[in-house]
Amino acid sequence: MLSVFTSLAGALLSCLFYSVAVRGASSFSVDVRGHGVRLVDGPIAGGSVGVTTSDGLSYTTNITLGGLNLTVILDTGSSDLVLDLQGRQPILTNSTDIQITQAFGKGEVTGDIDFAELKLGDFTIDSQAFLNGVESADLGDTDGILGMSFNTDSTIQGQLAESLGEQAANKLGNTPMPALFAQDTDLPHLFDVQLARTSELESTAPGVFIIGGHDTNFQNVSSAPQLPSVAPNHWSLVMDSMKVNGKAFTFNASRIAGVPSGKVVAALDTGFSLPPLPAPAVDAIYSSIPGAAFDAEGQQWFVPCDASTTLSFVFGGQEFFVHPLDLSYPIAGTINGAKRTACLNTYQYLTLDPDDFTGFDLILGDAFLRNVYASFNYGESSSSQAFVQMVTTTPDMTTALQEFKTERAATLSQLPPTVEPSAIVNRSVTNGSRKSSVFGASVITLAIPLFSLLCLLY
Ligand SMILES: *[C@@H]1O[C@H](CO)[C@@H](O)[C@H](O)[C@H]1NC(C)=O
Ligand SMILES: *[C@@H]1O[C@H](CO)[C@@H](O)[C@H](O)[C@H]1NC(C)=O
Ligand SMILES: *[C@@H]1O[C@H](CO)[C@@H](O)[C@H](O)[C@H]1NC(C)=O
Repeated sequence: MLSVFTSLAGALLSCLFYSVAVRGASSFSVDVRGHGVRLVDGPIAGGSVGVTTSDGLSYTTNITLGGLNLTVILDTGSSDLVLDLQGRQPILTNSTDIQITQAFGKGEVTGDIDFAELKLGDFTIDSQAFLNGVESADLGDTDGILGMSFNTDSTIQGQLAESLGEQAANKLGNTPMPALFAQDTDLPHLFDVQLARTSELESTAPGVFIIGGHDTNFQNVSSAPQLPSVAPNHWSLVMDSMKVNGKAFTFNASRIAGVPSGKVVAALDTGFSLPPLPAPAVDAIYSSIPGAAFDAEGQQWFVPCDASTTLSFVFGGQEFFVHPLDLSYPIAGTINGAKRTACLNTYQYLTLDPDDFTGFDLILGDAFLRNVYASFNYGESSSSQAFVQMVTTTPDMTTALQEFKTERAATLSQLPPTVEPSAIVNRSVTNGSRKSSVFGASVITLAIPLFSLLCLLY
């Protein structure tokens, strides 16, 4: 599933390669696009900051399709290769006039199903089915989306089955990873991802994307607990608990059948920058931060920029801590006509339609995934159960807190002065009872010219 904000600034790209001593495996980089600070095109006020004009972070990788070099979002939350080539013509291996529309958490793409040679690192898929989009929305400044989940969730395969029959669909319509593993049968059926954390003001950082083996620094992931994927359409794992300051949060019963009581199902989705959780879980996290204030109008939390809490997610008995930098993000805009900075909740209210989006109770996107090295394993054969193995990259909260203090202070020193949450949301709510915020029109006056902030950031 894809949900990223569109980049305004044409963010710098990193060009970092990881050399990997794994025979047969191919590793290439995951580039970060965007930076951790959002710019508000106008006032910072309750209810209005949803309209940020700068982006969150999205993670891209380079591929070659039919001779074209492309930059695509790496998306473990969707299945198909979906592209908007803007009139460029790849060399096709086959084509159809079967038209489909792919909808994502944000945006959709319409076009025909075509086929072309796909190169991913050292690997070549001879004839990869893809959506050759002619109309698209919200792909940002990328060429499209590389879906990294399962055939079962593939719109392309479903439509090929309808038009050409099941057998032809199975032969022609594999999504990229199943296509590669069907063609290269000796290759271990897995890919690994480690998403980098940039400095908040920059967009360059090393990341890992490797197919068919583990990064040399994370060989130990092979002995981590195997967490089965319990939904056919997503990398969906049973989560033991979410802890805030060591205390487990009580979720409602999972909507996935067979999940033990007290546990819920989390989809691991690299295409989702800001992880959506059930609203009470978001409230539990942010109400634990002293000075945080809920903005009922915007359904979001303002957080003191230098404050944090201890959040962790437990899978297979392993506790994964979330770096404080992944809990809130600075936004810059105006309040009372003055340039100001405030900080918002990174973990957000889940608002996806439960009928359209199935197979999970919550989504752990990039703000969680930056804290793990994750190996996504399809299993030995096409009938095996897929699973994920994870090791932490945020092992020590004391160190993480120190990094947060240093890094956040450095960021804030480059931005306008901060305001306390209570100055934005008229009444601070720290003990769970919500009050709506009220704004006089006089509070909101002048929009800061955007370019001045961009100059500040670059
Ligand atoms: C990916 O492609 C972009 C655009 O062609 C290029 O600037 C960048 O260096 C490439 N990144 C890598 C890691 O090759
Ligand atoms: C090419 O696509 C058509 C459908 O448009 C399909 O019937 C045919 O089998 C495909 N040919 C090959 C060689 O894959
Ligand atoms: C549990 O479900 C009820 C009813 O739908 C809802 O109001 C409440 O917010 C949910 N609680 C959690 C923790 O998701």
